[in-house]
Parts: sequence; structure tokens; C-alpha cells
Amino acid sequence: MKHLIPEFEKMKERYPEGFESSLVLPCLRRIQEDRGFVAEEDIVALVDYLKVPRIQVEEVLSYYTMLRRKPIGRFHLQACRNIACSMRGAEGVIAHLSRKLGVKPGQTTPDGTFTLTEVECLGSCGTAPVVMVNEAYHENMSTEKLDRLVDELAAGVRAGGK
Ligand code: FES
Repeated sequence: MKHLIPEFEKMKERYPEGFESSLVLPCLRRIQEDRGFVAEEDIVALVDYLKVPRIQVEEVLSYYTMLRRKPIGRFHLQACRNIACSMRGAEGVIAHLSRKLGVKPGQTTPDGTFTLTEVECLGSCGTAPVVMVNEAYHENMSTEKLDRLVDELAAGVRAGGK
């Protein structure tokens, strides 16, 4: 995390003095963007840098489901299970992905390629059911579209692409 401190210093300039706790979330987001997850050593370093109680960092980490404490697969498939998606077949989407990938929600494939996660509303209810892959939205999903998506991602990995 230490190499991010110059960026954190710039962020700090935007906040009045004494508002270090407001920096916990943006710093954690940046750490995750950099490492892929928030490691124990990042928490220790952030507490030391911001001079905030560790519990404050822990609270932010446990409240925001987008923040991760463990590494995940190269492709993070987040399947929405909230009401609009549920009414348009989210359970089937999740079950299909689970069967196809051979993992349960919350797990990563043994080769580290895919992590499947169930999430709450992704804010795209009008195009339910929705699955996010890393930062990209995939909407109006069907089993055929899921198969195509997963097969294309896996083929890209086999070909050595991104
Ligand atoms: S309920 Fe799934 S995107 Fe809103």
C-alpha cells in the first residue's frame, strides 16, 4: 500500500483537517483496484497512515460487499438475485452458472479463472436478469447468452488473451 501514499495525500487535500475517517472508503477502493483485494497488511498500513481506529476500517470493509478480503478469480461474475432479476429468472441464471462453472456462489474455479458471487440489485432492473463480469454489465441474460459469455471468456484465457 505504501506506493499509493502519494495518491492518498492528494485525496487528503480535498478534505478538511480532522476528516481522515472519510478517506477510509476511497483508500480501500484504491487499494483493491491495485492489489485485487484488501490484504491484512493493507489494513494495518491504512490504520497507521490515517490514524483511525482499526474498527472503522473493518466496518467499511464488512459493509460494502464490493470490497474483498481475499483474492478472487480473473473474471468476477456477479449475478443479481434481487427482486426484478428474481422475477425474470435470476435463480435459474445462478444455478446455470453454478453448474457450468462447477462452483457454488462465493467460490472460485480451481484454475482461478472465475469467481461466482450472488449480489443484490446492480441498478439495472429494467434489463433483468443481470450479471456483471468485472466492471461490465451483461443484461437480459438467458442460458444461451450465459453459455456464450463463459465460453468466450474461457477461450480468451486459453488463447492467452485478456
Ligand atoms: S434487481 Fe437486479 S439489477 Fe435491480
